[in-house]
Amino acid sequence: MTTAILSALPEEQSGLLHALQQGQRHAHGGRVFWQGRLHGQPVVLALSGIGKVAAATTATALIERFGVARMVFTGVAGGLGADVQVGDVVVARDYLQHDMDASPLFARWELPGYGRARLACDESLTALLFVAASADVLGVTVDFDSVLRLPPQPRVHQGLLVSGDRFVATAQESEALRRSLQAAGHEVLAVEMEGAAVAQVCQDYGVPFAAMRTISDRADDSAHVDFPRFVQQVASRYADQVLGGFLRRL
Ligand code: ADE
Repeated sequence: MTTAILSALPEEQSGLLHALQQGQRHAHGGRVFWQGRLHGQPVVLALSGIGKVAAATTATALIERFGVARMVFTGVAGGLGADVQVGDVVVARDYLQHDMDASPLFARWELPGYGRARLACDESLTALLFVAASADVLGVTVDFDSVLRLPPQPRVHQGLLVSGDRFVATAQESEALRRSLQAAGHEVLAVEMEGAAVAQVCQDYGVPFAAMRTISDRADDSAHVDFPRFVQQVASRYADQVLGGFLRRL
């Protein structure tokens, strides 16, 4: 049972790649896939690329070409929920595409053909990822908090994540996004650019999917500064810790 581990950026993948044993490199469909073993488990590591289309083609290749049995996404996101701060971790319970709008033919955010806006992640994989995140994330910030002013006690949240082909980088836009979703009953934790697409592909193929994202910025006016700093200095530490814990518990 091979587990696919997707990351959006090389910085987020570097620690996992470093720890990979018996690693074999495969180039396919403009992507590089690394097959090997991590913490005793057969895995394929891949970069999703940025945005929904790139993520969807990568997820499809992982299923069609590598026959993966489950898929886990690890990366960063912009915090939208009021108490979701930089350095916290969010584990996705479900996903919505915030830039999907086929109204008035379909309700705002509804995925045409699916009859709903939100796609659920796999319950048991998500529960395992939540346990791993809660247990293993606390040791991560120690070296970095003086530089990034990370919270001494990062929190682990679980709930709705949204994806779209936009880097959300103003307080005005993030507030508008949070409020409009909230008005329709969608209480959102964080925004990123790939997860909902992977969730859709996994739903189509019946492959269990789970995702965890570390909050790199608040999707506000300083997001363009906070995001690269966090990605360079912290993101892969979180991915290593949480994914290590996750794979050991599988
Ligand atoms: N990923 C990390 N931060 C983000 C943001 N502000 N908008 C979209 N995707 C993100």
